[in-house]
Amino acid sequence: MAVLLATKGHAQAAWRDALLACDPGLDIRLWPDAGDPAAIEAVVMWGTHDLADLARYPALRLVVSMGAGVDHLLRPPGTPKGVPVARLKDVLLTSAMSEWVLLNVLRFHRQDPAYRAQQAAAIWHELPAPATAARRIGVLGLGELGQDAAGKLAALGFPVAGWSRLPKTIPGIACHHGAEGFDAILRQSDMLVCLLPLTPETRGILDAGAFARMPRGAFLLNAARGGHVVQPDLLAALDSGHLAGAALDVTDPEPLPPDHPLWRHPGIVLTPHAASITIPASVAPQVVDNLRRAREGQPLLNLVDFSRGY
Ligand code: NAP
Ligand code: GLV
Repeated sequence: MAVLLATKGHAQAAWRDALLACDPGLDIRLWPDAGDPAAIEAVVMWGTHDLADLARYPALRLVVSMGAGVDHLLRPPGTPKGVPVARLKDVLLTSAMSEWVLLNVLRFHRQDPAYRAQQAAAIWHELPAPATAARRIGVLGLGELGQDAAGKLAALGFPVAGWSRLPKTIPGIACHHGAEGFDAILRQSDMLVCLLPLTPETRGILDAGAFARMPRGAFLLNAARGGHVVQPDLLAALDSGHLAGAALDVTDPEPLPPDHPLWRHPGIVLTPHAASITIPASVAPQVVDNLRRAREGQPLLNLVDFSRGY
């Protein structure tokens, strides 16, 4: 089974080495040197690769996303019909995301922006101590990432609520779902963490209407996709003081153009889509396992459900 690694730069070598370390017998082709297109049966790729290229491989029977998100594979023209798409689920991917969430929740909770401003002005002044038990946190998305982050926030003593598509019961987390649940979680979130997949239902979900339903002085954290947030609405909510701050790991577009207002807004903390970066050596065993399953006609792992979009 020939596998095409459809990525470029140093990541290509890291992925090749990690996959070969798990299965030295793999026939790995490095984009753009696919060789005979008819030999390619699996493509491992990220959103920067042209989806139209997949139509060149008539024997394709598996597409693997190099990350947890798959919106980049489902956008038009999509992957070839009938070819399954697998996402990644990985303990390091999950824990890195929770670290980003904890970093930024604690940054805002412990008034770090205000203390940094005081330091710049050499002001020695204690601000009122924040109460952890009074800082309500809402987590949008209770999947691989959301559940881990929610659990770690709850372990710190924050009251945590979560929101998913289908009803859930998670000890220590107040679970909401559906349209009513969305309203409820917005109204009670002093900090709102977005860890949703980007789908037609969730695109633009964090808009002026959503921000207006959040408590005055609330914070937004988005490490899911830039398309979840209507960015002009976020800037307006920050400028009006309704929202007190935002931490964004993802934007639309990416990379963010140098003159984009998100870069320099004093209420925004930005990271360049770096909250949780896939480590090839960590995910290679599951990718190789899926390649073997595809070869042997066994059930595949971590498959994307095209009807729900994640
Ligand atoms: P996941 O396991 O698929 O979980 C998605 C969660 O979102 C599920 O709980 C799902 O509900 C919920 N959801 C989906 N559509 C919904 C809707 N319309 N209404 C309410 N809830 C909805 O995804 P994941 O692994 O946690 O990853 C989430 C996203 O994080 C990825 O899709 C990706 O975009 C992003 N991500 C970003 C980075 C980064 O570095 N910034 C890294 C990795 C991933 P159900 O449980 O009911 O299905
Ligand atoms: C990164 O954004 C991922 O989806 O894994």
